[in-house]
Amino acid sequence: MREYKLVVLGSSGVGKSKLAVQFVQSIFVEKYDPTIEDSYRKQVEVDGQQCMLEILDTAGTGQLAAIHGLSQREVDGVLMLYDVTSKASYDELQSSQQDLVSVLKNRKVPLVLAATKCDSEDNRVVTREQGNGLASQWGDCTFLETSARKKVNVDEVFFDLVRQINRS
Ligand code: GTP
Ligand code: MG
Repeated sequence: MREYKLVVLGSSGVGKSKLAVQFVQSIFVEKYDPTIEDSYRKQVEVDGQQCMLEILDTAGTGQLAAIHGLSQREVDGVLMLYDVTSKASYDELQSSQQDLVSVLKNRKVPLVLAATKCDSEDNRVVTREQGNGLASQWGDCTFLETSARKKVNVDEVFFDLVRQINRS
C-alpha cells in the first residue's frame, strides 16, 4: 500500500490538531491542548485505491523550527492552515510558505491552503476572497474553508492532497 507523508502547518491555535483528529478519529474535543509534535496514521480509500496516510501535526509555537525540520524528512504533501478569526494567522502563513519553499529547495511538494473555524462566522476577520487571493499567489493552489467542529471539508482537504500527490 502506498504511504503518504503529510504535514500540517500553521500558527498556534489555528486548529491543526482538531482538524487532524476530526479526520482520523471523527471526534471534536473543545479543550485546547497545545501540541509539541504528534503523528497520526489512517488508512483511507481514495478513487478506489487504499492509501496509508501518515500525518505529522506540528507545534504552532516554533513553526520556523518545524519547517526547518522538514529538510530532514520525507514530505509528500503539506496542508497550510490559517484561522478565519485571526488575521495574524493569515499573515504568518505567508512567511511560512516562503520558508517552506526555501527549505524544500528543489523538491516540488503539493500544497493545500485551508481556512479553519468557518463555523465561527461572527468572529470572522479573514474573508474567503483573501483566502482565494493567497492560494492564487501560490500558483493555483487548492483552497478550502473548513470546520473541524462542524465537520466541513475535513476529508476533502486530505483527499485533495492525496489526489495532487497521485498526479505529481
Ligand atoms: P497548537 O498545537 O498550539 O499549534 O494549536 P493547534 O493549531 O493544534 O490548535 P487546536 O487544534 O488545538 O485548536 C485550538 C482551539 O481552537 C481548540 O481548542 C478549539 O477551541 C478551537 N477550534 C479548533 N477547531 C475549531 C473549529 O473548527 N471551529 C471552532 N469554532 N473552533 C475550533
Ligand atoms: Mg496542535
